[in-house]
Amino acid sequence: MRNFINLSEFDKQTLSTILKHAHELKAQKFAPPQLLKGLTLAMMFDKLSTRTRMSFEVAMKQLGGHTVVLSMNDTQLGGAESIESTAQVMSRYVDAIMIRMSDHTKMEELAHHASVPIVNGMTDISHPCQIMASVMTIEEKLGSVEGKKIAWFGDYNNVTQSYMDISKILNFEFIAAMPEDIAQNAPDKLFVTSDVNAAAKDADVIVTDTWVSLGQDGKAIEKFWPYQVNAALMAQAKDNAIFTHCLPMHEWEEVSEDVAKSSASVIYDEAENRLHIQKAILAWCLADAGVKI
Ligand code: CP
Ligand code: NVA
Repeated sequence: MRNFINLSEFDKQTLSTILKHAHELKAQKFAPPQLLKGLTLAMMFDKLSTRTRMSFEVAMKQLGGHTVVLSMNDTQLGGAESIESTAQVMSRYVDAIMIRMSDHTKMEELAHHASVPIVNGMTDISHPCQIMASVMTIEEKLGSVEGKKIAWFGDYNNVTQSYMDISKILNFEFIAAMPEDIAQNAPDKLFVTSDVNAAAKDADVIVTDTWVSLGQDGKAIEKFWPYQVNAALMAQAKDNAIFTHCLPMHEWEEVSEDVAKSSASVIYDEAENRLHIQKAILAWCLADAGVKI
């Protein structure tokens, strides 16, 4: 089954094929090929979403497909029905399922019981579609991601983990600067530091994300202030460095307003690229349904 759940299970050639297709689909955005004609994607969410929800829905529709959008709490999964039963039933109605599910293990359980592809629309430990959009944006702006230095600042979260996972496959340098206590407990310490200056020095891409992820309301943010992306931090990166963020931002905590609105900022390009990369991910996942790319 062509699931898109764990980046670590992909090789460079497959991710590069999906990325190349996404660039082609972006170039064809005013006359999109009807690759997904007649196919239906179910989308299910247990958390808020603007970009993931909209980009998958528009991606399906632009390529000729259909969508069913559900809040998990409006389904029987939010009640007593099991993941196995839900996966079996949904697989009889639709051709693929995109799901935002906090519990990664439960998403994998759903994939185990489903007979259609499952796409990870974000869990508490990963956000693979986001990172594919980020890489696509870096390729657009800097030509290639290979060999580049991408420096992350702030928390260690699902987006950080997905950058780490993909950096090992696509061969770029990834370094994440974060408060000492978080660095020490990081699941993957290889790429982690608490040294802001070492991380920022000569970086090609500066990236951050909110210090308070969905579901973490009330979290104290004081210790993150030294990791804010601001003009002083950007000045340590390369002259042509870009700034990106998966959005939504907490204005103006993890990034200062001047950086977010500067010419180096590609945040809305990355948000747009969610649309094009989702199309390519869906087309790859739906090969068994006859989709040719
Ligand atoms: N970046 C991202 O996944 O945004 P949403 O939460 O709005 O989908
Ligand atoms: N780390 C953030 C990403 C949102 C797209 C969260 O989990 O809320």
